[in-house]
Amino acid sequence: MTAPLVTRVSRADAAAVGDAARCLRAGGLVAFPTETVYGLGADATNGQAVARLYEAKGRPAFNPLIAHVVDAAAARALARFDANAVRLAETFWPGPLTLVLPKAESCPVADLATAGLDSIAVRVPNHDVAQKILVAFGKPVVAPSANRSGHVSPTTAAHVLADLRNRIDLIIDGGATPVGVESSIVACLGEPTLLRPGGAPRDEIERVLKRPLAEPAEGPGACAEAPLAPGMLASHYAPHTPLRLDADHVDAGEALLAFGPNPAAGAMGATMVLNLSPQGDLIEAAANLFSHLRALDAAGARLIAVMPIPHEGLGEAINDRLARAAAPR
Ligand code: TXA
Ligand code: MG
Repeated sequence: MTAPLVTRVSRADAAAVGDAARCLRAGGLVAFPTETVYGLGADATNGQAVARLYEAKGRPAFNPLIAHVVDAAAARALARFDANAVRLAETFWPGPLTLVLPKAESCPVADLATAGLDSIAVRVPNHDVAQKILVAFGKPVVAPSANRSGHVSPTTAAHVLADLRNRIDLIIDGGATPVGVESSIVACLGEPTLLRPGGAPRDEIERVLKRPLAEPAEGPGACAEAPLAPGMLASHYAPHTPLRLDADHVDAGEALLAFGPNPAAGAMGATMVLNLSPQGDLIEAAANLFSHLRALDAAGARLIAVMPIPHEGLGEAINDRLARAAAPR
């Protein structure tokens, strides 16, 4: 599991911003203020850093994360904007509105951060400290609210410390966050849909769009963080090839998603074998999960056999995602 950590807390000055960027570059976890709530940031392009982030939060499932970028131009490298998205971005960015958009072809964000989805949540925060960190780091930063899973979102550095002391590297203390509730989330994947009410009021969003926002199929609050009932987030990643979990052997015509040093019996005859972590490291396994599933799905096997994953640490979230991917459709 994670090495013992001592969380440092720094007042938000120029040195701390430089420190935050260095820490992100090294794959570390940095909590920082945005205008809504404190976020727990990691390098969005580094799958292992993202896996560590889920572990630090103690999330029982890999909810997709919001990629924070410095401006709309940077957002365009990650996602495709339709006319509604362009209008919303022009009006609300920087500010407390997150847009869920189709992922761009060349999007560099790690598969784990988007939970393997073809869409991505992007936001441009309106906070001096967040902006300076994004500029200094120069890449997108994924940041869920900086609380333990199931706790309320933190609006001060003290809240973050209470929840995440010695689970993350650095906290940048920029005082209380002005908005205090999370960003509103609007999906522009067709009819604009309000996935989460938040800092940008619904009526202001609707005025810009010149029409009412649609409700998500699962009802309002469908992507509220916790507790997410299984199956509540309509759009989780599912491969086309059926999955068989807890497999101790592989039959002819099957692909194998292995874990640990000893691949299941019959692996030599598998259509394709990918190992989540030959060393049995759950952080590495989480970082590889969605990209390995995609690659095996593309191999043309009739079934993907999945070896058992220990149900501890990040294993719980990995098993949650595998169970969803294996559920009958
Ligand atoms: O104000 C905020 O948005 C804060 C600050 C730190 O920026 N962040 C935040 O992140 O609230 P988080 O991870 O606590 O909530 C993000 C929500 C989750 O409920 C997730 O399910 C949803 O965004 N989300 C992210 N990507 C999505 C996607 N592709 N499709 C649908 N929902 C998505
Ligand atoms: Mg949250």
